[in-house]
Amino acid sequence: MSRFTPEMAARAAELVSLYPEPRSALVPLCHLAQEQDGWLTPEAMEEIAELVGVTPAEVRGTASFYDMLHTEPVGRYLVSVCTNIACLLGGAEALLEHAERRLGVRAGGTTADGMFTLEDAECLADCDRTPCVTVNHRYVGGLSAEAFDQLVDDLRAGRRDDEIPPHGTLVRVRRSGGLRVPRDQVASERQAMAAATAARAEAAKAAAEAQGAEGAQGKGA
Ligand code: FES
Repeated sequence: MSRFTPEMAARAAELVSLYPEPRSALVPLCHLAQEQDGWLTPEAMEEIAELVGVTPAEVRGTASFYDMLHTEPVGRYLVSVCTNIACLLGGAEALLEHAERRLGVRAGGTTADGMFTLEDAECLADCDRTPCVTVNHRYVGGLSAEAFDQLVDDLRAGRRDDEIPPHGTLVRVRRSGGLRVPRDQVASERQAMAAATAARAEAAKAAAEAQGAEGAQGKGA
């Protein structure tokens, strides 16, 4: 899969229309592409660049900054095991080792069938349920080794599909409103702001000059 499908292209156009500047839609479009393909393909980054008027390198540069955006393929399920302090004390290292054995990949790897990518994550903000695990950014609780095995079996069997959609699918609430401000209104507001800034600079310069003249007079008297 590469470019946006017709349905996704329509959603992309809708997203771009929400912002006064097309480039403000860059990150939402990255999420959209990821929803389609599970990761940001080079072709998707090119298309996003065209849509928002930047270069593909700028899209990649922005996307690579965010943990939730992937510029390399990931499995259908991204399993994140937190190994930060609270989880570390709660047995995260042992769980991660167990997960590596169970899935047959090291942290950072993807199973040969493309089902699972395992990652060693920083704090996932669920520190009272350790060791914390998320799948596709959905919390699945603090897990024992047995509970982890059950999770893997359930995911493989599709028993948690309602709760955990394929990687890249965001929450069900989609943005449909936002900065629907007419472009000419945005332009005139920017113009007014620039004029106000210039006026303030001019006033400050005049005040400084007047102060300088007063000082010179004082010395002359
Ligand atoms: S330390 Fe693991 S969720 Fe915060």
